[in-house]
Amino acid sequence: MTYQNIILEHAEAGQISVLTVNRPKALNALNAATLDELAHAIARVAEDAGARALLVTGAGDKAFVAGADISAMRPMSTLEAHAFSEKGTRVMQAIEALPIPVIALVNGYALGGGCELALACDWIIASERALFGQPEVNLGIPPGFGGTQRLARLIGRARALELITTARSIKADEALRLGLVNHVVPGEQLMEKGLEMARLIAAKGPIAVRVSKQAVQRGLDLDLANGCVLETTLFAFAFGTADCKEGMTAFLEKRPAKFDGK
Ligand code: CAA
Repeated sequence: MTYQNIILEHAEAGQISVLTVNRPKALNALNAATLDELAHAIARVAEDAGARALLVTGAGDKAFVAGADISAMRPMSTLEAHAFSEKGTRVMQAIEALPIPVIALVNGYALGGGCELALACDWIIASERALFGQPEVNLGIPPGFGGTQRLARLIGRARALELITTARSIKADEALRLGLVNHVVPGEQLMEKGLEMARLIAAKGPIAVRVSKQAVQRGLDLDLANGCVLETTLFAFAFGTADCKEGMTAFLEKRPAKFDGK
């Protein structure tokens, strides 16, 4: 598939992937074609056994993603809107289900579907220029790519409801205070900060990173006791890997570990 609306690139010998939504004239708004391309690219990353981390960002200096494409949505019937929401939801779920850490690098507007795209990533690094919001009620619709669910789970019911029902946008510093973003950096340092974090992850045991993500994500849907059972099972599973032997031997021999994901 040749992409028209996104770019998928690889850095650090293919270990770090960078996925860029690339429709700067429409502030990277998500139409059906862009969602299809995102689904395709995410499936490629999911199948890549050598992938260690994925960075997601938007092209240009104004927007991460300014939302679902309003001109594409305006003529939609109820059933078409249902299918569009399901398409977007599948993309967000595919990102969430990726076995590797996914970091959103929010370089500008992250509104509506753009905020939802960032929320589907494992954590967010924002530039000082970033602006977050769920302005859908201005258009007479609620969020449709998971915003009502993931925003409430991340920052709490009351804060999410305030933002969603007032359509108030928030700047990076408030997003940091609310726990929506992990870090705020000057715009020109955003990609480097993302790469720096991805390199840290890439240097760790890749199986350990993958099962840690699985334990946290799946565990959040379980009660504490069953979440701990999941963790114990994955912990024991890791002891069957060569990476585990290498990591512990390297520590005892006082040298850096060389993990090969086996
Ligand atoms: N859909 C389609 N086109 C969009 C868009 C969107 N979400 N956001 C911006 N654009 C387009 C504009 O129409 C404009 O196109 P033209 O040059 O052809 O007129 C171009 O991008 C530049 O935008 P502006 O001229 O509006 O730029 P600005 O700097 O004046 O304003 C903005 C920037 C505040 C982000 C403003 O564009 C805006 O409010 N955009 C819409 C934000 C929004 O409502 N997002 C939620 C969409 S609904 C949704 O996402 C549903 C869901 O949950 C699934």
